[in-house]
This record gives sequence, C-alpha cells and structure tokens, in this order.
Amino acid sequence: MIPSSINSSDSRAAGAPSIADMQEAVSALLANGKGILAADESLPSIDRLFALHHIESTEENRRMYRTLLFSSPELGRRISGVILFEETLRQRMNDGTPVPMYLRRCGMVPGIKVDRGLLPFTGMDGEQRTEGLGGLLERLEEYRRSGARFTKWRSVLRVGNGLPSDACIRENAVGLASFALWSQEAGLVPLVEPEVLMDGDHSLEECEAGTTRVLKGVFAALAERGVNLQRLILKTGMVVSGRTCLNQASDLLVTEATLRCLGRSVPAAVPGIVFLSGGQGEVEATRRLDGICRANTGPWKLTFSFGRALQSTAMRVWGGRQENIAAAQQALLLRADWNGLATEGRYSTLMERERLGSLPSRKH
Ligand code: G3H
Repeated sequence: MIPSSINSSDSRAAGAPSIADMQEAVSALLANGKGILAADESLPSIDRLFALHHIESTEENRRMYRTLLFSSPELGRRISGVILFEETLRQRMNDGTPVPMYLRRCGMVPGIKVDRGLLPFTGMDGEQRTEGLGGLLERLEEYRRSGARFTKWRSVLRVGNGLPSDACIRENAVGLASFALWSQEAGLVPLVEPEVLMDGDHSLEECEAGTTRVLKGVFAALAERGVNLQRLILKTGMVVSGRTCLNQASDLLVTEATLRCLGRSVPAAVPGIVFLSGGQGEVEATRRLDGICRANTGPWKLTFSFGRALQSTAMRVWGGRQENIAAAQQALLLRADWNGLATEGRYSTLMERERLGSLPSRKH
C-alpha cells in the first residue's frame, strides 16, 4: 500500500518547493522505528568495496547492486529514506521505473549526496575540506526535479595530535551552512554531516572534545547563515575511541560520551540526529545505537543513517551473482530490522545468535 503522504509528495514532485514538502520529508525520515540507508558511495568508494568481493565496478553492476537493495521486500518497514549517489538518481529499476519514483512508491524518501568529495585543506596537517559549492544551486533544482527530497553534504575532520584545527572546523562549518541554506531554498531537507573520523589512536575523551568543538562550530555557522534548524537533520558519528586506540571504551562509556556531547552542542530545535557507522562493525554499530537510544533523554529523535553497517553482509553475500540476490536482500532486511529495533531500545545481541544458523550464505 502507498502511504497517502507519499502520494501527495509524488503529485507535487515537479511543483515549486514548499515548506510543507520539507516538513513532510523531515517527519517521514524520522518516523518511529526506521532509519536511513546510506547507499551514496562515490565511485572510488564503491570501486574499493566491490574490489574486496571481486565484483567488477561497472555502471550496470552498480545499478544491479543498488536496485537489489531497494527492492528488498518491504524494506520501507524499517528504512525511511535512501541517500543516493548522483548516478543512481538517474538509473532505473529492472522494470524501467526511475529509482526515485520506485523508492517513493515503497514509502521511502529519496535523497542525494550533493558534495563532490574531499580536497586537502592547504597548510594543515592532513586535514581536508569538502568541495562542491560551485554550481550547486543549479544542481539542487535538477535533483529536486528528478525526485530527490533531501540532500547530504559530508565534511571530514580528524581528531588527535591537536586536531581538528580551528581553521579547519570553520572552513567545513561554513561549507555545510551554505549547503544547508541553499538546500532549504530549493525545498530540500539538508542532512548536515560533519564526520569525525575514527582513524587514529585518539582516546574517547579526545573524540568527545573534538566532536563537541566541531558541532558547536557547525551550529554557529548555521545560525550565522540563518538556516532553519527545524528543517534539517544532523548526521554525525557516535563518540568512540580511535580505531587503533589501545584502550577501547565500553559501550556504556560510548553512550554517555555521545549523549553528553550532543547535549552540549546540538540545539533543541533540531528535530533529529542520525548516526553514521563510520567503520564500526555491523553488530557493534547496532549494539551502540541501541544503548544510545535507550538512554536518550534529549529533545531530538535519534536513529541511524548507516552505509557499511547496513550493507556489509548483504554485499558480501551477493558477490555480484544473480543467484545470491534473495539471500543478500534477506541479510539487508535482518540488519535493517535489528537497527530499527535498536532505535526503540529493543535490540539484543541474542537475536543475532539465534539467527546464526539460518543466516543467508553466499553461493559460489
Ligand atoms: O557519509 C557517510 C555515509 O553516508 C555513511 O556511511 O555508515 O559507512 O560511515 P558509513
């Protein structure tokens, strides 16, 4: 069945941007028990991921993979929206339906990654800035006409050894604020994503301090530009120890540090915060999401916007082979279901153990 709100946005698809469209998209994206599927890997990223599974990264293989994800039966029960890469926005499902139209019909909001990737932030020690503001206004119009209802811009910051620098925080915050303002002017809900990387041996405390500074910088820039906080969603990482830190913080400490950081830096007017997985394993990301959502007493809706932590098993099981499609879809649906339960604080790792014997396996 097609939800009525999706029908109404379908009929307004080509019309002028409206505040109602954006409010509708925000509510749909933050619906109870659901989260966002990040399927917006850039070409170099999907090439790298496919290579791990010996899958050739052709345009058709990428289409087949993405459409297998989207056509997983009743995916919309747990997935509220999908972030697409530009190439996928223009692709079609096997029956010829344009991808954004198909997603809307299945009750999922189509979105698009609009940044153009990372460049070195000159003069700074390994820091980066995001490019893509040039020509963005025109592109946003086109994305909306193609059916997108929300946008994503990712900037990346490093923690540890004195990083991030104030200059890099400011540079990225200003870029995010311009992107957010222009998206709203085009009637698209911005997913504002300052990602603090897990790379490095920094402690939980360093991650918390760095993430707090980054988020404060972002909200200061959003305020300066007059971005409407009620019509955006923050996408951020959980506060965790660096990947190579010898003293890995417990889930409880991750929960406390994440909620403390958000409480100190994210205004109450922001309707929702969605977590990226950032290289955490699938089970780890779900377990921590559950802990954070259980303990949240903040004003915002919390949920997931995972890429790797939703897709890793599904991509491995698919392995580029037609005969594995159903098993790959089953893997995605299970993961989406567990993450949906986690947003309600109802997930347990026991669920994974119970399914171990019946988990989909790859046919070679
Ligand atoms: O920008 C990052 C992606 O949208 C989320 O990917 O969950 O694999 O970190 P990830």
